[in-house]
Amino acid sequence: MKIVIIGANGFTGRRILKDLLLKTEYTLTGCSLHQDIDPSSGYRFIKTDICDRKQLMELFENTNPDIVINTSALSIPDYCENHHNEADKINIDAVEHLAQLCNEFKCKLIHLSTDFVFDGKSTELYTETDIPNPINYYGSTKWEGEKRVESICKNYAIVRVVVVYGKSLPGQHGNIIQLVANKLRNNEVIKVVSDQWRTPTYVGDISQGVEKLISYHTNGIFHICGKDLLSIAEIAYKVADYLKLDKSLIQPVTTIEMNEITPRPKYSGLNIKKAEVELNYRPHSIDEGIKCTFNESEL
Ligand SMILES: NC(=O)c1ccc[n+]([C@@H]2O[C@H](COP(=O)([O-])OP(=O)(O)OC[C@H]3O[C@@H](n4cnc5c(N)ncnc54)[C@H](OP(=O)(O)O)[C@@H]3O)[C@@H](O)[C@H]2O)c1
Repeated sequence: MKIVIIGANGFTGRRILKDLLLKTEYTLTGCSLHQDIDPSSGYRFIKTDICDRKQLMELFENTNPDIVINTSALSIPDYCENHHNEADKINIDAVEHLAQLCNEFKCKLIHLSTDFVFDGKSTELYTETDIPNPINYYGSTKWEGEKRVESICKNYAIVRVVVVYGKSLPGQHGNIIQLVANKLRNNEVIKVVSDQWRTPTYVGDISQGVEKLISYHTNGIFHICGKDLLSIAEIAYKVADYLKLDKSLIQPVTTIEMNEITPRPKYSGLNIKKAEVELNYRPHSIDEGIKCTFNESEL
């Protein structure tokens, strides 16, 4: 089975590539905007700007994929808030072209999305049937991308993930777990929001969910994240506990006190029942995920 992973230099894309490389049944191609950040054997790497229609067409012609996994995105909410055109290009327009080409080449599109499609006003975990209502520009573009996939693609899965964490490579952006660990190890104070709740996702669990979706033949949205609901402050305390670092350096603050420019959902935990029942998806707990992040042998 021929699989193309778009965004293969990114945090999630590289982990999916590495995990699928362990299986013999896949012929893998990684694709990203820049050169391969961590070249190794077992796959092709094709540098491609998926916002360029000609380059995207060439990628499909050169690989003739059965499955395309799109992990690329402009996913920094603060940046998207002030760069609407750039966000539209990658999160909406390129996704629409991808969806069209997937139909043309009769392949399945597995497209990653986010909990930020929701407004966070719920007090219960969101299910796949809840109606999105994004409150920032990033969330709006990701929801619009989802809608393009749903309306165009004949064969697709939309995978919503939440606060992805795990061990990142040099050159990749960090994540909350690593940020907290780095700050505390340097004896620096870290401010963390205590009134925003999420269901953080261990990056290896996304590979697990995505691999199950490769052979699952019903279209739809799937919430692929962790099963534990925590505030960002609670995540920070868990890291401090696990690494036995100084907890007094953690400063819990409210959203109002944090005074961020970009609004963020207060409560965007996702319900994973559908993935558990239909895909037999079994995520790590937050404690297991933190352990895996700091002990590579336990991945
Ligand atoms: N990280 C999270 O906490 C989180 C939470 C919720 C949802 N998500 C979603 O999960 C997905 C993966 O997120 P991530 O944080 O793992 O992503 P990431 O690390 O930011 O990686 C995204 C990759 O996309 C590539 N890319 C950007 N523009 C491109 C273009 N025009 N053509 C080809 N490749 C391009 C970049 O490649 P280069 O490095 O080569 O420039 C980058 O490595 C995204 O859809 C995101 O919205 C993430």
